Amino acid sequence: MLSVFDIQVVTNAEELSLKAAEEFVHRAEEAVQARGIFTIALAGGSTPKSLYTLLATDTASFREQVPWNKVHFFWGDERHVPPDHPDSNYRMVQERLLSQVPVPPENVHRILTENPDLGKAAHEYEQVLRDFFELHEGKWPRFDLVLLGMGPDGHTASLFPGTNAIHEQTHLVAAPWIEKQNTYRVTLTPPVLNNALCTIFLVSGAEKAEALQAVLEGNPEPERFPAQIIRPKQGTLLWLVDQAAARLLQKQA
Ligand code: 6PG
Repeated sequence: MLSVFDIQVVTNAEELSLKAAEEFVHRAEEAVQARGIFTIALAGGSTPKSLYTLLATDTASFREQVPWNKVHFFWGDERHVPPDHPDSNYRMVQERLLSQVPVPPENVHRILTENPDLGKAAHEYEQVLRDFFELHEGKWPRFDLVLLGMGPDGHTASLFPGTNAIHEQTHLVAAPWIEKQNTYRVTLTPPVLNNALCTIFLVSGAEKAEALQAVLEGNPEPERFPAQIIRPKQGTLLWLVDQAAARLLQKQA
């Protein structure tokens, strides 16, 4: 069973994005007020697409509320593709959000996955994090907000079942081989993801229901369901899920 966390079941994907946008704005205002900066590690995939669009287009509710020049964007994971590739998480965010709001280019910290040597790209990104967060050895970056998705197999970021990145406790960034996708990925590692001030999972759709029930209510099996690894040590964890994804949850019934 996971440690303390909140589950918020919303009607559908549209309400999921609305709630996530409200959380984004709230966390951004709070962070900038407290520290003059808001650092976020973004989720890739398709679920967050409408959130990113909403933040850029819903002027009154969201766009105008965010001090974009004080937001620093990082990625939770990235595919082994160049930044202009259709599968690029960076490209997805660039098209839907970053090209639409006044974020200074120096605030966008993408993973340089055009590098044929993805291990090198992971190492470089780790250095970007160390420099930006001014980390000494053994210290972890503390994002104000980490957004995560979850696959139907219970993976999150690029922590896939049975991969070595699940057990990474030394490095900040890893480049695991993902057998079932026949590709390497770059991903933030569990110690980084678990050090965030606020972590929000965005899970939508009936195809996620079985994995969600196993992750939230099943026995601890992080090898099989890596999303179970996400248990922030000193931060809040919110599972924002829609009714279709939550349909097998017993506790929420
Ligand atoms: C990625 C994501 C990945 C994603 C899940 C859910 O690069 O694909 O980081 O972890 O969040 O696979 O993806 P969907 O939102 O597309 O279902």
